[in-house]
Amino acid sequence: MADLLQVENLTMQFGGLCAVDQVSFGVEPNQITAIIGPNGAGKTTLFNCISGFYQPTSGKVSMLGKEITALPSHKIAQRGLVRTFQNIRLFKAMTVVENLMVAQHSRLNSNLLSGMFKTRNYRQKESEAIERVHYWLDQMGLTEFANREAGNLAYGQQRRLEIARCMVLDPKLLLLDEPAAGLNPNETLELNQLILSLRDNNDLTVLLIEHDMKLVMEISDHIVVLDQGMPIAAGDPDEIRNNKRVINAYLGEGDES
Ligand SMILES: Nc1ncnc2c1ncn2[C@@H]1O[C@H](COP(=O)(O)OP(=O)(O)OP(=O)(O)O)[C@@H](O)[C@H]1O
Ligand SMILES: [Mg+2]
Repeated sequence: MADLLQVENLTMQFGGLCAVDQVSFGVEPNQITAIIGPNGAGKTTLFNCISGFYQPTSGKVSMLGKEITALPSHKIAQRGLVRTFQNIRLFKAMTVVENLMVAQHSRLNSNLLSGMFKTRNYRQKESEAIERVHYWLDQMGLTEFANREAGNLAYGQQRRLEIARCMVLDPKLLLLDEPAAGLNPNETLELNQLILSLRDNNDLTVLLIEHDMKLVMEISDHIVVLDQGMPIAAGDPDEIRNNKRVINAYLGEGDES
């Protein structure tokens, strides 16, 4: 099957540091692919390069056969690739609903004048945007917090709001950077189910970075392991669990997962 995302020889250098070093892998449609590796392995930098937040030093990223390397992040999002952040980036002083409306602004503000004069086309798009907000509030169990300031939500709810903010854009590919970070075991279990149901019910493909090995091993179809910017292994959960290089990379760092 053709890859939904293709990463070829992607490299990102910061001065003398090669944070991502000739990384290549593919992501198949409707699969859950995990990127794992010790702290500082280059996982977030890889996401930043794929999603247009960094311009990679070299290499190529393609989605559905079309090159997206170094396109600005909003253009990449328009093609259906959206991401969450390791450190939650919500508008904390805005309500939950406002956060989900702002996320859709590029869809709404296609034309400034139509927004100012609220043309029929604008009103139509606006009401579709509001519908999507309510649909995803419901799906994510956030309806009762709709008018709460995002910064006042519990941490686990903020994490879910971050995912909702991606989902209102109807993504084809969702990148999650450590979605389980800071969650308690129950919340992690719920997240596990949520990611699977998002994938199954929305024709979605998921690429996630995660340190929680239980979650990774349970939900991933495919795992790519990075160490010091380089891919050291790739395979299904069983292959990765038993891979000597992977075990060494983790043991070398101490038992962090
Ligand atoms: N903007 C930047 N400028 C300079 N160096 C950076 C920058 N971003 C990341 N780095 C460096 O690149 C390396 C990889 O960092 P990155 O954040 O990608 O790792 P990570 O695998 O996501 O780690 P963690 O599991 O701790 O989140 C680190 O040495 C980091 O200090
Ligand atoms: Mg990171």
